[in-house]
Amino acid sequence: MNGFHHLEIWLPAHEVGGEDWSWLLGRLGFVLEQDWGTGRSWSAGGAYLTLTSSPNLADASHDRRRAGLNHLAFHGGTASEVDAVMAEATEHGWTPLYQDRYPHAGGPQHYAGWLENAAGFKAEVVAEETAGSEPPAERPAWRVRPETAADREAVRAVELAAFPTAEEADLVDALRADPGAWIDGLSYVAEDEAGDVVGHALLTRCLVGDRPALALAPCAVLPDRQRTGAGSAAIRGALEAARARGENLVIVLGHAEYYPRFGFARASGWGIVPPFEVPDEAFMALRLDPAAEVPRGTVGYPAAFGV
Ligand SMILES: CC(C)(COP(=O)(O)OP(=O)(O)OC[C@H]1O[C@@H](n2cnc3c(N)ncnc32)[C@H](O)[C@@H]1OP(=O)(O)O)[C@@H](O)C(=O)NCCC(=O)NCCS
Repeated sequence: MNGFHHLEIWLPAHEVGGEDWSWLLGRLGFVLEQDWGTGRSWSAGGAYLTLTSSPNLADASHDRRRAGLNHLAFHGGTASEVDAVMAEATEHGWTPLYQDRYPHAGGPQHYAGWLENAAGFKAEVVAEETAGSEPPAERPAWRVRPETAADREAVRAVELAAFPTAEEADLVDALRADPGAWIDGLSYVAEDEAGDVVGHALLTRCLVGDRPALALAPCAVLPDRQRTGAGSAAIRGALEAARARGENLVIVLGHAEYYPRFGFARASGWGIVPPFEVPDEAFMALRLDPAAEVPRGTVGYPAAFGV
């Protein structure tokens, strides 16, 4: 038999039974084979991983940027299973890395998420390749850019077409009229080859506790252009522009199956709560700067949201 027989990682004794590793390994299908108090072994796929302390441990800290282990990469199942693991991980001691480029931080063909625990260990969760799946590069290349004054009617038309009522279109107009909420350059449009606006994603100022953050809402694509990447392109454009401006935290209330692909995870994992009742999985947050501290508290939306 080829391949690894086992991998052994040394940890300080207090980290050996940590919930972070137990949850991640269990969640990824590893089976706990042995627990001898100062160490544990988990098996999967014919190999095992030992996390153990040792009396010979020379240095209790781990620095993955030094020579030695950088990260462990695990099979994560389908793309949506990887999305689910990434969404749940924040509740179990793991912080997502490279969220703004999720799930393709490793390249357009590589669907994966990266996690870091408090001790600085990095884990990668990789989706299996799906036979016949269309690589993102072959989808239409939507051009994205910040909206200009000339786009206002087109943006309104997209919002009206995408939603059953005028509520979202009116919301965008009300936010644009609120200088405390609106940030020039963070309303992004996706346009087709003819230069017609087909998609829109909006980031406006909100608060988490008393600290500034951004709310992503609404996101809309013309119905006949939906599911062709235009929404994702506009959202990624807006998030990238926000990151370039030094913003960190973005909040979204929306489809729990859609937003994790941009790196959003349950906001409750960071102690961020909505000012209204919603299913926990629908209220999500994204850190644009993994090094920045994440504020906790209740989200305060601009008045235009009417909450
Ligand atoms: C949601 C929306 C903005 C997404 O934009 P889009 O351009 O259609 O989406 P993309 O092409 O970038 O991404 C496609 C993926 O989005 C996901 N998706 C799209 N709409 C979704 C929805 N309503 N719920 C869950 N996932 C959805 C699908 O999983 C799809 O994946 P697939 O390619 O495997 O089918 C767009 O569909 C839309 O305007 N919908 C109506 C308005 C709305 O619901 N807005 C969001 C409010 S939270």
